[in-house]
Formats: sequence, C-alpha cells, structure tokens
Amino acid sequence: MSEIIILAIESSCDDTSAAVCVNGKMLSNVMANQKIHEQYGGVVPELASREHVKNIIPVVFEAMKRSGIDKKELSAVAFTRGPGLMGSLLAGGMFAKSFAQALDIPLIDVHHMQAHVLAHFIDDPKPSFPFLCLTVSGGHTQIVLVKGYLNMEVIGQTLDDAAGEAFDKTAKLLNLPYPGGPLIDKFAREGNPNAFKFSEPQIDHLNFSFSGLKTNILYFLQKEIKSNPDFIQAHLNDICASVQNSIVSILMKKLKRATEETGIKQVAISGGVSANSELRKQLLIYGEKHGWETYIPEFQYCTDNAGMIAITAYFKYLANDFCPIEIPIQARMEM
Ligand code: KG4
Ligand code: ZN
Repeated sequence: MSEIIILAIESSCDDTSAAVCVNGKMLSNVMANQKIHEQYGGVVPELASREHVKNIIPVVFEAMKRSGIDKKELSAVAFTRGPGLMGSLLAGGMFAKSFAQALDIPLIDVHHMQAHVLAHFIDDPKPSFPFLCLTVSGGHTQIVLVKGYLNMEVIGQTLDDAAGEAFDKTAKLLNLPYPGGPLIDKFAREGNPNAFKFSEPQIDHLNFSFSGLKTNILYFLQKEIKSNPDFIQAHLNDICASVQNSIVSILMKKLKRATEETGIKQVAISGGVSANSELRKQLLIYGEKHGWETYIPEFQYCTDNAGMIAITAYFKYLANDFCPIEIPIQARMEM
C-alpha cells in the first residue's frame, strides 16, 4: 500500500495548529498561541476567529515546510469539525475544505475530544483496548471508555464547569492572566496543598461538578481579603497548591471509581489539564500502588494541537471514513 500522508488542522478554541503525518508518524506539529486573550481573563471568541484567519496560512505552510512533504504528495486534509467555538472552527474548517478541494483529495472531519484521546497513539508506549481515558480540558471533563480507535463511550462527565475552567476561573480571582492553569501549577509547587480546605462536591456515579468549588473559593477569598487586603499576595503559593489539590482529588476519586466499576486497569489522561504536574504525579503514584498501567501524553500533545487531529484522521483514513465537502461545522457535538 502506498503511504498515507495527512495534513491536519486544529482551530477549535484559541490555538491555531497544523500537523503532517505519514502512516501515523508525526513529521511536524506547528502551533500559534493567541496571546491576545491574556488581558481578558478568558478567550474572546470574536478575537480568536480573527487570529485564526491571520495565523492559518503561515502555520500550515510552516507545518508543510518542516515535514519536507510537497502538497502534491498529500493523501487527505483533516480538520476539527467540533466541538468548539463556532467562529474558530469555521476559520480552520473553511481553510481545510478549500485546500482539499483545490488539491482534489479527500477531506476528513475529526471530533476534538476523540482526538484528545487518540493523542496516545502518536508515540510509544501506546495503550491497548479497552482502556479508560480521563479527558480534561478547558471545555470538557470526561471519563471515556475507549473500546477501539473510533469506538468510545463517555461513562462520566461534568454537569457544569470543566476542570480547566475551574483552574482558569480561580486564576482570574487571583488576578492571574489567562490561561491560569499553567500558572496555578507553577505557584503550587512552592505551596502547601493542605493550607486551605475547600468543599468537595457530592455528585452521583462517575460525574463531576466544579461550579460549587468555584463559588467556595470566591467566598473564601472575599472573606479573607476583608480582614487582610494583601491576603492573595501573601498566600498565593498556598492558595494555588490548595486549589490544585482539591481539583486533582476530585478527578482522581472518580477515576479510581471508574477502574473499580469497569475492572479496567489501563488508565490514560489527556487534554490541556493533563499537563498539570500534580495530576501527572498522583496518577503515577496511585497507579503504581494499584497495578495500573498509566499513560500520559507528551506535553505538546496535551493541550490543543493538530498532531492529535492528524493521528485520528489517519485511523479514519484506514477505515475509509471520509466526509463530504458540504459537511457542516458543529460547535456542539456528541462523541
Ligand atoms: O485541551 P486544551 O488546550 O483546550 C481545550 O480544548 O479546552 O485545554 C486548555 C485548558 C485550560 O483551561 C488551561 O488552563 C488548562 O488546560 N491547562 C492546565 C495546565 N496546562 C493547561 N491546567 C492545569 N495545569 C496545567 N499545567
Ligand atoms: Zn482541547
């Protein structure tokens, strides 16, 4: 069989990314982060779309250049169809559609959350089926039962905010720029995780909730600032460590329960929050103690990236799963 060469584009939120892979091997994975949102404490959808339109051509050209592949050699073009921000998805989707049309090659639509899970198949070691994947990002928090490359079932999910949102909204309360997750992670390294206690949500089964924690942190800070206006500056490391500890405990608790209920001991994490050092540490420690085989993606494949879109598209190509050019972009999309 001849080589399968895929150009993939990811633009679901605030990162513009393009990747090229040959038979599932990544040749390039280029990213343009949008700094513009830092000052607003969150992604501003209209600004994100405009940045994607600015970045998409240079990012794709750079990914092609680094891969050493000529556009005439491409077998297919893949793109994130959803879920995500409508304007952002449209910018990447329309580019992908036009490129595929111009080259007269097939188009492959990719589900963003499925791609976060399949990021585990870019490099070794790779999990085998079935495995559990905790997919934690700025928009999602899910426990996925992965039965095959394209056969996944969400067995638990958040009923309100995502774990990444809990990090980012806490960071905003602490006057830190967006995205706050990596900064909380950084300050937490110097802090005491047991300095402050926050309420733990009592949610049924394998589902999550983070909105109560957010309110709890808000009221806690308001109360402390009343008696000491410099409370945040004076205790930043301890606050970050305690908040991070709460979020990671909630995630680990449900993950443990999922392994008990399913009997599956291959456990993976993915999505932006899987870059969190405390989550990675706790997964490894607990996993080793309880005989889990744990899988953590390389940093570049944790947060949004086109590499994960490319690998998913590769499996879809092998399954002859292409899409028509008229396929609509979808901001909301079931897995
Ligand atoms: O997967 P992702 O890049 O985008 C979405 O699909 O949402 O995830 C972004 C989220 C943000 O909420 C960001 O704060 C969080 O991942 N994040 C982290 C860390 N790195 C990124 N959260 C905690 N610790 C980190 N080190
Ligand atoms: Zn994502």
